[in-house]
Amino acid sequence: MDYFFNLPTKIYFGEGSLKELKEAKNLGKSALLVTGKHFAIRSGLLKRVESILLNNGIRSIEFCDVEENPSVETVEKGGELAREKKCDFVIGLGGGSSIDTAKGIAVLATNPGGLREYFGNEKLKNPLLPVLAIPTTSGTGSEVTRYAVINDWQAQTKKVVSSFSILPKIAIIDPSLTLTLPKNLTASTGMDAFSHAIEGYLSTDANSLTEIFSREAINLIKRYLPPLMKENNPSLREKLSLAAFYAGIVINRTGTIIVHGMGYSLTLDYGLQHGAANALLLPYVMGYLGKKKVYQEKLKEILRTTKVKESLLKLNRRLNLPLTLKEVGVKKEDLKTLARRAMKDCERALLRMSIPLKEKDFLLIYKNAFK
Ligand SMILES: [Fe+2]
Repeated sequence: MDYFFNLPTKIYFGEGSLKELKEAKNLGKSALLVTGKHFAIRSGLLKRVESILLNNGIRSIEFCDVEENPSVETVEKGGELAREKKCDFVIGLGGGSSIDTAKGIAVLATNPGGLREYFGNEKLKNPLLPVLAIPTTSGTGSEVTRYAVINDWQAQTKKVVSSFSILPKIAIIDPSLTLTLPKNLTASTGMDAFSHAIEGYLSTDANSLTEIFSREAINLIKRYLPPLMKENNPSLREKLSLAAFYAGIVINRTGTIIVHGMGYSLTLDYGLQHGAANALLLPYVMGYLGKKKVYQEKLKEILRTTKVKESLLKLNRRLNLPLTLKEVGVKKEDLKTLARRAMKDCERALLRMSIPLKEKDFLLIYKNAFK
């Protein structure tokens, strides 16, 4: 029962909690406000945030350049701006991409060189700027994790800056900000959180505390995500935000296992949204692991069924998510390349597996997912 658990983030949760942004005044006088190119601007959220900051004596500098799957170059550009404008802290406003970019920028604002120097575990040289996270999706959990996942085109994969020091100082989780999230993104980001919860549950770094959060996140998503496809209401949104937050707490400790790594190339090469890639792979990965003794009992415990693959496919079907690799443009001849890349992309995840996996095992899973 020995375990280590650390979550130093101050969390405000609940509808209307955006007003707690006034607390940002304890972080400094000027903020770099990091967000995507569309949603926060068009919805008026960016202006709302800026006006709360201004009312509390905080100057904000906009950085609205974040793309889906943010690149090293974008983070480095933001880092330069934060240094030039002498920002005291960084706000990530948006989905996982914006929050992860904000974390990367906070690192580069005070650490020399490029972002690639900080990929890996605990590589920071200097303390970074404080980060405040305001998620507008219910999926990533990045508001309570020590990871910034950034796209490295040079290495043709996603890379991770992992450090307990990049955990946001403050997270404001206001479910009302997710109300206008389109259905397809609600489904895919919700399944990203589902994947965090289940992968975290099976990780060799899971402990009795993370298991509680995994179970609760899984139950909330199974129960409340499908109805959101039919009816958009604040109480369902609140349940989903809670689930994503719980699942973030899980992976902050456990990391993910192979589903995430196997999905990287589906996102980078086939344009599949991060959560949709995880959702597509889940039935086949869990179906495969469900046949192994060491995972059987745990999967039954958390999914409350022995028909693992079927039940996950059913969930994806209810969410109108793609069910096979063929559907998303993968060709049969691509499968070998995918398996080879998975070996590399799952390097860290393989350390959290209870069984060894080889390229042929990845190929088998991809083949199953292809049909
Ligand atoms: Fe994820």
